[in-house]
Amino acid sequence: MTSKTDLIAAARAAAAHAYAPYSRFAVGAALLLDDGRIVTGCNFENASYGLALCAETVALAKANSEGDLARVVEVAVIGGSIATGAMAGADPVRPCGRCRQIINEAAQLGGRDILVHCSSADGEKVETHRLSDLLPHAFGPADLV
Ligand code: THU
Repeated sequence: MTSKTDLIAAARAAAAHAYAPYSRFAVGAALLLDDGRIVTGCNFENASYGLALCAETVALAKANSEGDLARVVEVAVIGGSIATGAMAGADPVRPCGRCRQIINEAAQLGGRDILVHCSSADGEKVETHRLSDLLPHAFGPADLV
C-alpha cells in the first residue's frame, strides 16, 4: 500500500526531470491510481514562456493517455527553486488554478474527492487538502448537460 510519504517521494524523483531553465523552479507530481499504480510528471517549460506545462498537468495527461484518468485517487506535489542547485524552498507547493481545474476533471470522472498532498522541497512541511477545498464550487462535466 502506498503511503503519503511514498507518493511524495515519487513526486520528488519526478521533479529531478523538471525542464525549468526559465523559472528555475522545479515541480514534481505523482498520482496514485485506485489499483496502486503511480503516474508521475514534472514541469516542462518552453522558450515561449507561456507554453509551460505544470507537473500535475503532465502527470494527468499521461494518466489519461493510458486510459486511467478516472482511477486517480490521490495527488502529491513537491517543488522548489533550483536556482542555486538542489531544489529548495520552505513552503508547500500547491497546485495552480489551472491544475486544480484539471485535477477536478479526474475527480468528476472517477466520482471521488481527490486528496492533494502538497510538500515543501525538503518534505518537512506537508499539507493534505481535499480537492473540493482547493477548488470549491468547481465547474465540471455535469455543468455541460
Ligand atoms: N508549476 C507547476 O508545475 N505546478 C504548479 O502547480 C505551479 C507551477 C510550474 C510552472 C512553471 O514551470 C514553474 O512551476 C514556475 O511557475
